Amino acid sequence: MKLFLDTADIEEIRQAADLGVIDGVTTNPTLIAKEKKDFKSVIRKICEIIDGPVSAEVTSTTSQEMVDEAYTLSKIHENVVIKIPLTKDGLVAASKLAEKEVPVNMTLIFSPNQALLACKAGARYVSPFVGRLDDIGHDGVLIASQCQDIINTYDFDAEVIAASIRHPMHVFHCAQEGVDIATVPFKVLMQMMKHPLTDNGLEQFMRDWKSAQS
Ligand code: G3P
Repeated sequence: MKLFLDTADIEEIRQAADLGVIDGVTTNPTLIAKEKKDFKSVIRKICEIIDGPVSAEVTSTTSQEMVDEAYTLSKIHENVVIKIPLTKDGLVAASKLAEKEVPVNMTLIFSPNQALLACKAGARYVSPFVGRLDDIGHDGVLIASQCQDIINTYDFDAEVIAASIRHPMHVFHCAQEGVDIATVPFKVLMQMMKHPLTDNGLEQFMRDWKSAQS
């Protein structure tokens, strides 16, 4: 499973990059807005830190404006992936960008049919929002797994990015289902790493070691 970091916070990205477990980064307009910095500068900085796909989401809503914005964002760095919402205009834009081999991550996906359409439009990544599905009583992991099944069955040249991850069990269950990628908030990455028995065990090792030295 690949792990992406779902943030535009440069300090979080730096810390996560040092762990050596992050394969890419995803952002969205909300995450970018939180940083209160120039959009393109933030994306450029992220690309300098992480050597992997970095998703930058268009803020246009019509297909032609999305395509125009995509070309501008693509010029930032070769690792930039264009995030486009799964709307009618988004599919038109994604199809046009696929013809020009501009990598697209189709986002705000909530059903396997949306993922199927994204793959048919030539998207490189499809992002089902696991947490937001759970929030309304649906099974987000199941839907991410169904999206993965479609891609595997028809051998689409696309990968599933399980997004809107709320806690470590989302990552674990998506990994169990063979989902390609999970994009996780920094907080969840830290939760995945921590275990009280690890901390307690290390403290005991150190206590025993020091007592033997004295
Ligand atoms: O960035 C896309 C997705 O991960 C956002 O998730 O937490 O806003 O539901 P969230």
